Amino acid sequence: MAQNTSFIRWAGGKSWLVPYIQELIEGLEYNNYHESFMGGASVFFAIDIPKKGYLSDVNKELVDTFCAVRDNPQRLIDYLNDFIPDEKNYYEIRASEPRGKYQRAARFLYLNTYSFNGLYRVNRQGKYNVPYGQRQNTTFNYERIFEVSKKLKDVDVICQDFESSKYLIQSGDLVFLDPPYTVSKESNSMFIEYNSKLFSLDDQYRLGELIDYINELGAYYILTNAAHEKILEIFQDKGRLIPRERNSLIGGKKAFRGKVQEYIFTNIPEKGDKDEN
Ligand SMILES: C[S@@+](CC[C@H](N)C(=O)[O-])C[C@H]1O[C@@H](n2cnc3c(N)ncnc32)[C@H](O)[C@@H]1O
Repeated sequence: MAQNTSFIRWAGGKSWLVPYIQELIEGLEYNNYHESFMGGASVFFAIDIPKKGYLSDVNKELVDTFCAVRDNPQRLIDYLNDFIPDEKNYYEIRASEPRGKYQRAARFLYLNTYSFNGLYRVNRQGKYNVPYGQRQNTTFNYERIFEVSKKLKDVDVICQDFESSKYLIQSGDLVFLDPPYTVSKESNSMFIEYNSKLFSLDDQYRLGELIDYINELGAYYILTNAAHEKILEIFQDKGRLIPRERNSLIGGKKAFRGKVQEYIFTNIPEKGDKDEN
């Protein structure tokens, strides 16, 4: 596993965007750093933050795993060592419900490593239901777990809705916002329906209000979002728009590479334009 990336696989991970974000914040003087949709927190792991870090997400198992890695990586690794990476053990571990903080985190990391595509998906009863991913030859990178633990030292990792970040953000802070993309490729009308459980249009409007708050406070934000006219309508008056293109694998085994456009909005002034903010 490369240095300065996340230690987990996460859908919508932003490692592809890291070089661009590094460029965007180069020379920016900011105080505390926040990621309010942390997922695998790939941007956080790639940058050096000047002061305190706050990472948060609504996924409790994810947050608890980050805390376990931060607090006692060796204890977590001791449990991981007991797990065998084959199909039979995968389904046994998937069905298990360990109580302890470190056992649960070890189970999470094991499933993240050996599941199909590292997906996180639960059924209606809240039980993880992603099938085995045929990755027996993959091993855990213990060294990386220790590095990540160091990086997370003194970082607050919190299970909360993004809106609660506003109680932590102060003037001069930097907030990276990477919500699930509420968008379908089909049509505008599908837009609201398609992902309403994941992140609804209403959630996008709430996010717009958080950004208004950040702007009023005099903090910085970077928002990534789907390139969609509704998103443009909600966020275009809150900062400058930077469209980005990324490569995307479409179509499973018979995959071909396509280009997907995404939007970045930010109130970080353009280089050479510092007086405007
Ligand atoms: C696109 S992923 C973030 C990926 C991350 N930037 C990375 O590089 O791995 C979006 C994350 O938002 C979280 N999320 C969804 N709804 C949320 C909410 N209302 N408040 C906070 N987090 C939320 C999901 O659990 C998911 O981890």
